[in-house]
Amino acid sequence: DASDIEKGTYPHFMLKEIDEQPFVMRNIINQYQNENGDLKLDDDIRAAMKDADRVYIIACGTSYHAGLVGKQLIENIANIPVESHIASEFVYNMPLLSEKPLFIFISQSGETADSRAVLVEVKKLGHKALTITNVPGSTLSREADYTLNLYAGPEIAVASTKAYTAQIAVLAILAVDSAHAKGIELDFNPLQELAIVANAMEVLCDQKEEMEKIAREFLAVTRNCFFIGRAADYYVCLEAALKLKEISYIQAEGFAGGELKHGTIALIEEGTPVIALATQEHVNLSIRGNVKEVAARGAYTCVISMDGLQEEDDRIVLPKIHPFLTPLVSVLPMQLISYYAALHRDCDVDKPRNLAKSVTVE
Ligand code: AGP
Repeated sequence: DASDIEKGTYPHFMLKEIDEQPFVMRNIINQYQNENGDLKLDDDIRAAMKDADRVYIIACGTSYHAGLVGKQLIENIANIPVESHIASEFVYNMPLLSEKPLFIFISQSGETADSRAVLVEVKKLGHKALTITNVPGSTLSREADYTLNLYAGPEIAVASTKAYTAQIAVLAILAVDSAHAKGIELDFNPLQELAIVANAMEVLCDQKEEMEKIAREFLAVTRNCFFIGRAADYYVCLEAALKLKEISYIQAEGFAGGELKHGTIALIEEGTPVIALATQEHVNLSIRGNVKEVAARGAYTCVISMDGLQEEDDRIVLPKIHPFLTPLVSVLPMQLISYYAALHRDCDVDKPRNLAKSVTVE
């Protein structure tokens, strides 16, 4: 059938879409640069970001996780305060808004009902909204004041992969453009850094055997799995856990390393799989400490680190990339490990039970 043709030689859309990520990065670079190779973005969007005294990012699921990374990017690069919210919570529990808010909706499909409910509400209040989506003519894109496209190509697998990295890349571009608009001097070129990310992604896509091995060793029979990290790594851990639970049905949770001792560590038993991300220099010592703490209580640990921060027993070492952009690369092994875990457990990778690709009801 038609879907077999689109999959090409791939057994699943998810694997194909994971592998497409380096191309998507290069596509985004091309789409967001002018003839001189400089970053280009709509003047209207630039002005809206410059005017805003606070940005509210609204999204669900994986797009929400991209929004958490986006918050960090916009705050650190463009110096604008950002709050990141789950749409279905925001709509019933709206925080006190700033005087000049700008709303950013992140949605792969552009059709998510929970996000749309917030958009309708903030339009009623007279606020401006920007939608970042993979589907230009979608409801959220039509109903917002501005749109940014992800240029990721159709995402078919229920588990979102390439849309997540595309969302983060576009948020990074938006952050840098806003910094330029505010006259903030930056010591890096975002398009060059994204090109380095694309190459790093390719290196990881070539390490599928190792990811498969980790999935087999850690996840083939377990009933649970924990992902731990700090700072940006923590946000990626939330996404890693969602990916694993939705396609392999393993109970998985992402935890902030420092919170373990406040309760979560009670869950660690002999043989509990704990996958740790250690890609952030400023928290490297602390997360390494957390890995030792869980290992001492019997956890079976797997550390994914970054060139320059690696230690002897680390299972995967990511190529070095700009510290702001590590989530773009560190998520890739997580996606692949989830994929292989689902395969080992005979799950329907592309169409997990109880889930729809886009959730158009409340
Ligand atoms: C991701 O793997 C999920 N299937 C899901 O969380 C998804 O990201 C969420 O439903 C939001 O969808 P959207 O980006 O199309 O709005």
